[in-house]
Amino acid sequence: MHVPFLNLRAAHDPLRAEFLAAIGEVIDTSAFAGGPFVAKFEADFAAFCKTEHAIGLGNGTDALWLSLLALGVGPGDEVITVPSTFLATAEAITYTGAKPVFVDIEEQTYTMSPAALEKAITPRTKAIIPVHLFGQVADMDPIMAIARKHSLPVVEDACQAHGAEYKGRAAGGIGETGCFSFYPGKNLGALGEAGAVVTNSAELKQKVQMLRDHGQSRKYYHAVVGWNARMDGFQGAALQIKLKHLANGNAARREHARRYDELLGQVEGVIIPQVAPGRVHVYHIYAIRVQRRDWLLQTLASRGVSCGIHYPVPVHLQEAYSSLGYARGSFPVAERCADEFLSLPMFPELTPEQIEYVGREVARAVGESKNAK
Ligand SMILES: Cc1ncc(COP(=O)(O)O)c(C=O)c1O
Repeated sequence: MHVPFLNLRAAHDPLRAEFLAAIGEVIDTSAFAGGPFVAKFEADFAAFCKTEHAIGLGNGTDALWLSLLALGVGPGDEVITVPSTFLATAEAITYTGAKPVFVDIEEQTYTMSPAALEKAITPRTKAIIPVHLFGQVADMDPIMAIARKHSLPVVEDACQAHGAEYKGRAAGGIGETGCFSFYPGKNLGALGEAGAVVTNSAELKQKVQMLRDHGQSRKYYHAVVGWNARMDGFQGAALQIKLKHLANGNAARREHARRYDELLGQVEGVIIPQVAPGRVHVYHIYAIRVQRRDWLLQTLASRGVSCGIHYPVPVHLQEAYSSLGYARGSFPVAERCADEFLSLPMFPELTPEQIEYVGREVARAVGESKNAK
């Protein structure tokens, strides 16, 4: 049996006719950059996130970067985030001119440690970016309490957490802004690149809208220096269609995760993901932790199970950030997790047979790994 890590065609084939009709409408109305299809998606997505506003953008990195710019973050400032994330979280900070400052993650959820956050705050700190890694919301109550105490805004990196919940609140709707990526492989993926900011603040909405459109207050009148970060019209149309399937897709992922948990929870040498109380996980990634991870990745690949690693090197140890001067040992939990994470196949259309096969093969390979050369 071959089990792919991800199969986008399985999601897209049943929607093909609907996509083609929507693309036809975009062509017929020439609504290619922003426009009514993006506006309709923005309204739908804000409702989904239970926020007042959504602003469609070119990608998730834009969402993080423009959020920080709208909040006034710039050179000389520090922004606190975690090293267990995709590089984009830190890049967005760097592109404002501010310095990324990292804090370690919690061992159970792989999200920002509130205790570590509080210790890292300095007079230069201007914002906090918790990352809802793999589809589980960070521990937002203590994070927001610390932020309020120090009058700091919170930008949620919800790029992996479309539809996740924290104590009944939707990911992205808890901080000052929530940032989403609609990269094709995400739980809500476009047919190309796209992203969005969600917010309850009319002021931040207006700022992000201006920044995405060259800082224009009206056509050819530029109030500030912005950028071109508009969402493509085709993506707005495609995302409207895909949003209708997100809740079902997330439910299917949770069901698959439940079965993986059953198959692997008792296997010696495997740590399965933990869901903290009050949280609804959406399993963008189902990552187990194992020893001899690279050997397991190869062995499973040879037996038809395609796995991934998210991410092999934590951001503070990436070459791109060597100038920050962090050494190995700075963030022990993040570093240990980076060595041990192994992401199993996860997408809504996985079949029960595929999940059984993956569970069986992982258990077998983990058993063998102890004696393998
Ligand atoms: C946690 C996280 N932050 C930010 C991003 C950046 O999003 P994008 O690739 O759409 O720019 C991604 C996705 O790639 C992500 O997973």
